[in-house]
Amino acid sequence: MTATVITNIAELVTNDPGADDLLGAIADAALVVEGSTVAWVVRAGEAPAADEQVDAGGRAVIPGFVDSHSHLVFAGDRAAEFAARMAGESYAAGGIRTTVAATRAATDEQLTSQVARLVDEMRRQGTTTVEIKSGYGLTVRDEARSLAVARQFTEETTFLGAHVVPEGDPGEYVDLVTGPMLDAAKEHARWIDVFCERGAFDADQARAILRAGEAAGLRGRLHANQLGPGPGVGLAAELGLVAVDHCTYLEDSDVAALRDSGTIATLLPGVEFSTRQPYPDARRLLDAGVRVALASDCNPGSCFTSSIPLCIALAVREMGMTPAEAVHATTYVGALALDRDDVGALVPGRRADLVVLDAPTHVHLAYRPGVPLVAATWVGGRPA
Ligand code: NIG
Ligand code: FE
Repeated sequence: MTATVITNIAELVTNDPGADDLLGAIADAALVVEGSTVAWVVRAGEAPAADEQVDAGGRAVIPGFVDSHSHLVFAGDRAAEFAARMAGESYAAGGIRTTVAATRAATDEQLTSQVARLVDEMRRQGTTTVEIKSGYGLTVRDEARSLAVARQFTEETTFLGAHVVPEGDPGEYVDLVTGPMLDAAKEHARWIDVFCERGAFDADQARAILRAGEAAGLRGRLHANQLGPGPGVGLAAELGLVAVDHCTYLEDSDVAALRDSGTIATLLPGVEFSTRQPYPDARRLLDAGVRVALASDCNPGSCFTSSIPLCIALAVREMGMTPAEAVHATTYVGALALDRDDVGALVPGRRADLVVLDAPTHVHLAYRPGVPLVAATWVGGRPA
């Protein structure tokens, strides 16, 4: 097995949960990779000999970003809808149907090359693990093929047949989602998700869909409280889901329920940036003892950015997070939100997925917004 040592790291963010500081940061560090995993993290002078040596040139090294929420399988774009929003229109869930029509009309090859392009775009911005949802097919065939396309790029695939009711009777559509569509989707998916929101699915529908998914071997997640207060976050806590996403409009009882259940609140600040809604209050959640992850929600409607560095900058500037909390939320907590313990930290035994920043510390991710700071992304111990 080849051993590689990366030396001359000005700041190494390990996310070691046993460290005194949140990021387990080591100044003037070296990292040894054996095969695809981290073998050692040490002070620069203490690095053991290795087959290969890489000089980080006084840059910072952080764990690769774990983006736990994206919708990359789609065709077409909704730039006109975005422009109209910036001219005063408001965002509504119904826009999803525009993308559904374009996605149904696309070939498998077109969908695959679109996902490949976006995953590559993510990688160039430091993302090393990505979750990808279906949700723009909304027929048995189109949901199954969307998930089969996503599976070519990640193990973290999510069946989102319950994105909106595409046409027809809502009750019949829920029967389709929990019956034939789930049957066709389950072999390609690890997770099941529901958009629990006014204009999409209510709490009873969401509960029924998540229970059916669980019975089919999938694990639940939810889109909730994005466009207004509602029952979704409480439902996620009641069901003990690993994570509930958006969490923009929360009552005190929602915050308490998240704290008590341990369900992670995944905040998606690119959405509020792109829809001109108020940002979720990360500080309120963190101060209450809720675990907070950040993800991109990359999709053609509410948020067409694949950039985790942008999400970090927004979370720090607009949502009361410190740079350290924001970096932790996009790496360590992102991994927890996917129930993964093999990524999200640079400690011995974890996968050597990392980002070399063109900067001396992680703080620059928020301090230098909009600047391409990712000098290199490594996946499984090799530059990707
Ligand atoms: O996460 N909230 C639902 N789904 C996406 C938006 C989908 C769309 O507008 O196409 C979201 O924001
Ligand atoms: Fe989403």
